[in-house]
Amino acid sequence: MKTRIIGTGSYLPENIVTNDDLSKIMDTSDEWISSRTGIKERHLVKDETTASMSIEAARRAMEDAGVTAEEIDLIILGTVSADYITPACACEVQAAIGAHRAVAFDINAACSGFMFALNIANAYLQAGIYKTALILGAETLSKIMDWSDRSTCVLFGDGAGAAVVRADDNVGLLAYDQGSDGARGMVLAGQNRTNNNPLVETSKELQYVHMDGQEVYKFAVTAVPASLQKVIAEAGLTVEDIDYFALHQANIRIIQSVAKRLKVSEDKFPISLDHCGNISAASVPILLDEMNKKGLLKPGMKIAMSGFGGGLTWASAVLEW
Ligand code: UT7
Repeated sequence: MKTRIIGTGSYLPENIVTNDDLSKIMDTSDEWISSRTGIKERHLVKDETTASMSIEAARRAMEDAGVTAEEIDLIILGTVSADYITPACACEVQAAIGAHRAVAFDINAACSGFMFALNIANAYLQAGIYKTALILGAETLSKIMDWSDRSTCVLFGDGAGAAVVRADDNVGLLAYDQGSDGARGMVLAGQNRTNNNPLVETSKELQYVHMDGQEVYKFAVTAVPASLQKVIAEAGLTVEDIDYFALHQANIRIIQSVAKRLKVSEDKFPISLDHCGNISAASVPILLDEMNKKGLLKPGMKIAMSGFGGGLTWASAVLEW
């Protein structure tokens, strides 16, 4: 039995903010952002929320898969920017789509969130507990950015991506790798709340994401190729057998470095970061949906996917489409 992706969907906010737009409100430039990251523009929310984007992405994935809400057993949503601490964003999705039979919960594995959701769903499906799952990555990162810190705020965007996965006798996930390195976690951190009770003096200062970009970069360019090589070998394949590599969209230079280390043409690495920026947990499913809707994904193709980031966490998979 394998876990097969049978439908994808995504949602990007209506409003687009270009690098030139940002250069009018902070000390940055299209030249700096484009040359260092490959990002040209990002979508930012005005009225959308993490839940509203997730719900739309979920509906599109269900329509693509041809499944009804009644058929969904499980909803897992990766996010670091849910609208509420509780209820989970996955529960908001459940309510909106009417998947009343499903069990729904959020997970936090930052930029690896969608890939972790895929692996958790895979475990449930492999165990025979559930048959059909809706997995999502969704972020409103703009609300946890310090808009006076040009070194982080220009990198990130908002959006949501979803996939429907189902147990299949023949086709689907061939191999999986995931890992965490909490000892290095503080190189990419965003604090939620400080202690707040009668015993402590409460800091009312708002906390935002901060990142040691170069450390995260070094982590990504070593962990990602190693993880991809591991899953490709475990799937009984070689890098030449892989038709596409769908990587977390953090920085074009990271993707180019991974392609170089694997000795694979960059043409096999589709890109969405140019028009989306880095959307953490949402970036892999949005990219996958774009590939799907462009008709790039054909039955029998071998797709390698990888997410990496906060935690630190990473996760890769190889699947047959
Ligand atoms: O999804 C989570 C995973 N995250 C990542 O994968 C991020 C990985 N890291 C990176 O992609 C890169 O490290 C960055 C794109 C974040 C930064 O690139 P960098 O080449 O490491 O630049 P830097 O941080 O060393 O900064 C170089 C210079 C500095 O100026 P000085 O000190 O050399 O005068 C910065 O102050 O660039 C300056 N700078 C900017 N200049 C214009 C930083 N941000 C900006 C900006 N516009 N937005």
